[in-house]
Formats: sequence, structure tokens, C-alpha cells
Amino acid sequence: MMYQKPMLKEGSLKDQVIVVTGGGSGLGKAMSTYFLELGAHVVITSRNFEKLERAKIELEQKTGGKVLPVQCDVRNYAEVEAVLAATLKEFGKVDGLLNNAAGNFISPTERLSANAFDTVIDIVLKGSKNCTLAFGKHWIDYKQPKSTILNIVTTYAWTGSAYVVPSATAKAGVLAMTRSLAVEWAKYGIRTNAIAPGPFPTEGAWDRLLPGDLKDKFDMKNKVPVGRVGEHQELANLAAYLMSDFSAYINGEVITIDGGEWLKGAGEFNMLEDVPKEMWDMLEAMIRSKKK
Ligand code: HXC
Repeated sequence: MMYQKPMLKEGSLKDQVIVVTGGGSGLGKAMSTYFLELGAHVVITSRNFEKLERAKIELEQKTGGKVLPVQCDVRNYAEVEAVLAATLKEFGKVDGLLNNAAGNFISPTERLSANAFDTVIDIVLKGSKNCTLAFGKHWIDYKQPKSTILNIVTTYAWTGSAYVVPSATAKAGVLAMTRSLAVEWAKYGIRTNAIAPGPFPTEGAWDRLLPGDLKDKFDMKNKVPVGRVGEHQELANLAAYLMSDFSAYINGEVITIDGGEWLKGAGEFNMLEDVPKEMWDMLEAMIRSKKK
């Protein structure tokens, strides 16, 4: 399938230095892999340094690129500043920030402790804010001609979603930050965009979000009009495009990549999808007869 293939031409991110939070696993690792294949140097961060070291070896062997693993809890501003310092020490510059690190779990909201709610808000919203602020200040101070911030939000950032309320609340904040800074920081050459992915199964997050047989009970592909879940490469293609100069005129945009999933949930009469053709014949006859 075409969408499983790399999209951009070779060298599209040549010598770009890109920091990917949560880059040691899941979708962050998939996007990092493609950035490396396109010629970028990538800094991957996570709280788990062993995971990062394993990812570094795997990614370097697979792509021939250069990966710098830096342990960081994005909730801690000093640790984020240390990532920036380590990046500049290793590569002398930084061109892109991908705010990908996230935390989430499903739960009825009334079952959450205040600390549980804070934990998700802190990772998602405060973490994205910490990274954005540290890297943005650097780019502005150093008068770097151009740089890019790419935020990973969700399709429920604008609709909200039951049972993931801390995540929905935090992602809505990240969305507002994306659009606000796209205007405010464009004069400094900083483009700010976001991607809202629908279901893209990963081993870690997916198993935590839908544990046990919930995965089979709520088969995500049934919610998607195109009839399948996302492939990591198609998300990586979009992320690489938004990181690259090919998207230089795109600023403040949130691109949804979900096969139409959230709109299927939104349209008032979308449930009519289940009506078979014969019933449509009958319904049409009934509606027309009413008109007469
Ligand atoms: C209720 C819970 C809980 C649960 C943790 N807590 N899990 N409460 N239900 N399932 C509570 C704890 O009891 C504690 O509160 C507080 O949350 C903090 O928990 P810790 O384990 O100390 O926090 P921490 O180690 O920082 O773990 C963070 C985490 C974890 C978010 C809880 O799940 C995590 O790190 N996940 C990995 C990242 C991840 O899931 N990424 C994928 C995001 S996907 P108390 O009061 O007891 O101290 C995404 C998009 C989804 O966001 C889109 C789908 C289409």
C-alpha cells in the first residue's frame, strides 16, 4: 500500500536537529525513525534511560543516523533545559521540537485522585509548555532564522471525551497554545503546528488504554469510516512534512489523521450508515408518500 511507504524525497531533513519527547517508544520512535531516514539528527527523551539507550542502538543501526538519548521528565523545567543544553553541546544547534510525550489512562473522572488528574495534565500540558518555552526562548535569543514546533494532540482536543478527561483537558490546552504561538512567534521564524491522530495502535499506550479484552470488545477500526486503524509510517510521513521546509507556509494548523473517525461520531445522522439498501428503498417510499 502506498500509505505504508516513505513519502518525502531523500535528504528532506538533511542536517536538521530535531528533539522528540517520548521518542524512545511507540509513535515517537516511529516518527524519529523517519526523521533519521530523511537525514536528520534526532534527540530522543524519556523518563526511562534504558529504554532510550536500546532505542538509540536500534534506530542508528536501522537508519545510519545519529541519535542522542537524554533522560528527561518533561514535567521538570530544569530537566527540559538540560535537554536543550545537551542538544546544543552535541550538535551545535536545534531546528525542531516534537512535543510527543504524553500520559493517559481511561477512568471515570470521579474515581481519579487530584494527583492522578494532575499527573496527566502535568505530562501533557505542562510538559509541552516546558519544552515549548525553553526551546522558543533559545530560538528567539539566538535569532535563529527558522525553527519548528510540532505538537501531538488528539481528535478529542476540540470535542472533549468522556473517560479521558485529564487528557482531553490538557490536549485542548496544547491546541490553544499551538494556535496562539503560531501567530505570536511567527515573527521569530518559529512555525507552530499540530497533528491530531486517531487510532494508531502501539504496544505500550494501546495496551494501557484498552487493557485485557477491551481491545476486542471496542475494536477501534469499526469506528473509522475508512475501515482500518492508522499505519505508523503515514503518521511519520505527515510529521516529517510538517517538520520540513516543504510545509513552510503552514503555520497554526492542526491536521487530523484519523480516517474520518471523529466526524463519524459527530454527524447527527451518521448512525444511518447501518441501514441496508433494501431498507433505504422502503424508507424512500415512506418519505415520498408522506410528502403527497
Ligand atoms: C486511576 C491512576 C491510574 C488509573 C495511575 N493513577 N494510573 N488513577 N486509574 N489507571 C494515579 C495514581 O494512583 C497516582 O495517584 C497518580 O495517578 C500518578 O500515578 P503514578 O503511577 O505515580 O504516575 P506516573 O508514574 O507519572 O505515571 C504516569 C501515567 C502512566 C500517565 C499514570 O500511565 C504513564 O506513564 N503512561 C505512559 C505514557 C502513555 O500512556 N502515553 C500514551 C498516551 S496516548 P495517587 O493519588 O494514588 O498518588 C494519548 C492519546 C490517546 O494520550 C488517543 C487515542 C486515540
